[in-house]
Amino acid sequence: MLGQAPNIIYKIAWIVLLTGCLCMFLLQAASLLIKYQRMDKITDIQLKFDTAPFPAITLCNLNPYMNTLVRDVEKIRIILNVYNDVMNNAAKLNDKSGGSDEDYEEEEEEVETTTKRRGKRSPSSNFEPALSVCTCDEGECVANVTAIPEEISEDGGTMCICSFDRESQDPWPCYRKDDWYNTTCQCNEHSFCSKESTDGSAANKPCLCQNNDPFCVEHDHAKLLLNLWEFFGRQIPEEMKKIIEALGFDGLTDEVAIVTKAKENIIFAMSEMAEDVRRNVSIQKHELIQKCTFNGKPCNIEKDFKLIVDPTFGNCFTFNHNKSEPMSSIRAGPMYGLRVLMYIAADEYLPTTEAVGIRMTIHDKDDFPFPDTFGYSAPTGYISSFGMNMKAMSRLAAPYGDCVPDGKTESYIYEDYVYSTEGCYRTCFQDMVIDQCGCGDPRFPVIGNASHCFVFDPEQRKCLEDRTKDLGNIHSSFKCRCQQPCKQKVFTVSYSEAIWPSQSLNITLGSCTLEPDQCNEHYQENGAMIEVFYEALNFEVLSESEAYGVIKMMADLGGQLGLWSGISVITCCEFVCLSCELLYMVLMHHYTAYKRKAWERRRNNEPW
Ligand SMILES: *[C@@H]1O[C@H](CO)[C@@H](O)[C@H](O)[C@H]1NC(C)=O
Ligand SMILES: *[C@@H]1O[C@H](CO)[C@@H](O)[C@H](O)[C@H]1NC(C)=O
Ligand SMILES: *[C@@H]1O[C@H](CO)[C@@H](O)[C@H](O)[C@H]1NC(C)=O
Ligand SMILES: *[C@@H]1O[C@H](CO)[C@@H](O)[C@H](O)[C@H]1NC(C)=O
Ligand SMILES: *[C@@H]1O[C@H](CO)[C@@H](O)[C@H](O)[C@H]1NC(C)=O
Ligand SMILES: *[C@@H]1O[C@H](CO)[C@@H](O)[C@H](O)[C@H]1NC(C)=O
Repeated sequence: MLGQAPNIIYKIAWIVLLTGCLCMFLLQAASLLIKYQRMDKITDIQLKFDTAPFPAITLCNLNPYMNTLVRDVEKIRIILNVYNDVMNNAAKLNDKSGGSDEDYEEEEEEVETTTKRRGKRSPSSNFEPALSVCTCDEGECVANVTAIPEEISEDGGTMCICSFDRESQDPWPCYRKDDWYNTTCQCNEHSFCSKESTDGSAANKPCLCQNNDPFCVEHDHAKLLLNLWEFFGRQIPEEMKKIIEALGFDGLTDEVAIVTKAKENIIFAMSEMAEDVRRNVSIQKHELIQKCTFNGKPCNIEKDFKLIVDPTFGNCFTFNHNKSEPMSSIRAGPMYGLRVLMYIAADEYLPTTEAVGIRMTIHDKDDFPFPDTFGYSAPTGYISSFGMNMKAMSRLAAPYGDCVPDGKTESYIYEDYVYSTEGCYRTCFQDMVIDQCGCGDPRFPVIGNASHCFVFDPEQRKCLEDRTKDLGNIHSSFKCRCQQPCKQKVFTVSYSEAIWPSQSLNITLGSCTLEPDQCNEHYQENGAMIEVFYEALNFEVLSESEAYGVIKMMADLGGQLGLWSGISVITCCEFVCLSCELLYMVLMHHYTAYKRKAWERRRNNEPW
């Protein structure tokens, strides 16, 4: 139309139309491209009425190691001793700062009078006379337990005898050595005595008394007196101070903080042991898991539970671990889920274990359980019901989303398990610690040549401590990129409980040869029943799909082309045909012209 336009007005009109359409087309095409490049996705939620596969359940005792067995490990013995001392000191400090002396009520009247100034003595405290260097003032003396008699100067002090309690390590009261004399008294179970019998029974125990106060201490005259400077000298040698510092107890006075630190130290010390040592000093499978049913049928405890040695909880056992044997509940409700009766051996609990019970984690078979992070605790003496619901997620990988396909990344510290975000963070942190401290955090596994940090090495501990503190700092240089896995199962749990066992239940657990009533009490302290089941036999599937793919974009582009310029693939073909025909015509024209010239030359016999 432009070519055939009869006058300038027609021409201009057509030019304006053409450019207008071209602009509109380019504009639309650009917006389509932008839309495509956004890589939008849509999430589809379906409810599937199908039996969901039963997840793996990992069960641990809250107490990691058996008290009597683990004390054979020398490092643990040292840690527990130091822990004991630090706890005692903290208790003394808290006693002194907290409240007046009248707060303390002692059962025995006599003890109350003697300990009036010093606060509480525990029911197991036991007095004994001990020799020390003192500074005395009018009969009353104050002991200097670190002073050594041979080294003191003339007026540095006098020798005295104090009433000493090893547990609270408190020498009080003290009197000059010469004030004490041998006699016989009536004594109570704390070795606290009085000269005259109070209830008429005979005063027949050997004891030491003095004239200043009506106060005596039981003492076998043949025995040597305890020397306090030796007792305390032996308590904190330089080496010990270093150990306390390395263990991080230095300056801690809060008991909860001390327990937390002690737990950490036990994890550190045990990580230096071989795995089978750790396994042997923790609770064994048949001791922890007493009875079990799944789907209403008894399970095979030996075969169905797999051991995992966890740094925090010791031996843990995973139910439904075998990937080639999928299990599923036949119906919803507690009767058709997993029911386990567990025995936690409360008298074997370490002094650092605060709570009594079970730790349970619900996870996918391929995932590492992480009982310390994702677990739920269940108490003893209760039946704990965990009702589950499952959600299966499938996410789109790049370029649409940002997830890890196949559950694989290079270097993942939980080598036999598939990728998870928590594992990725731990791997990332462990890599950083190994890089900067030369040793790995014992709470997490190490791979390759690296080894765990040593518990008594102050430098390594300090380095690790600083790195851990650095994590809490928002300006820290530690950055970790941990994406979600592309395929993931999420279990949401609701919890309820009821008292167990009932009075009428006649069950045996462990070995109890006592009266039924006492046995029931024993079970209540040591037994925990766990139920894990599906609340409904359906599950949600959340899947992502691309919202705007290549095909859709092509279709839209074609639509725009057609709309604004009437171009389609057929039109394009016509153009191609036209150009081919034109080319053919041009070539033919030149060829015939050349032929004619050549014929004329030959006829005229002209040379070339
Ligand atoms: C305790 O004795 C040591 C050594 O003789 C001395 O250095 C220290 O000052 C004494 N402490 C007190 C509180 O008298
Ligand atoms: C008590 O008797 C013992 C043994 O007979 C003796 O060694 C000790 O010096 C006596 N103690 C006092 C304070 O007299
Ligand atoms: C652990 O116990 C097993 C079985 O009782 C035994 O064979 C193994 O030698 C023990 N290991 C250690 C280090 O005590
Ligand atoms: C898993 O189950 C299969 C088939 O029953 C069995 O052959 C295999 O030994 C089991 N694996 C483990 C680790 O128990
Ligand atoms: C591990 O140690 C061995 C021998 O000490 C060494 O040859 C190897 O290169 C080390 N590997 C790594 C990854 O550091
Ligand atoms: C419990 O069972 C034992 C035998 O196993 C029986 O002697 C006892 O009477 C039963 N107790 C109750 C309360 O049923």
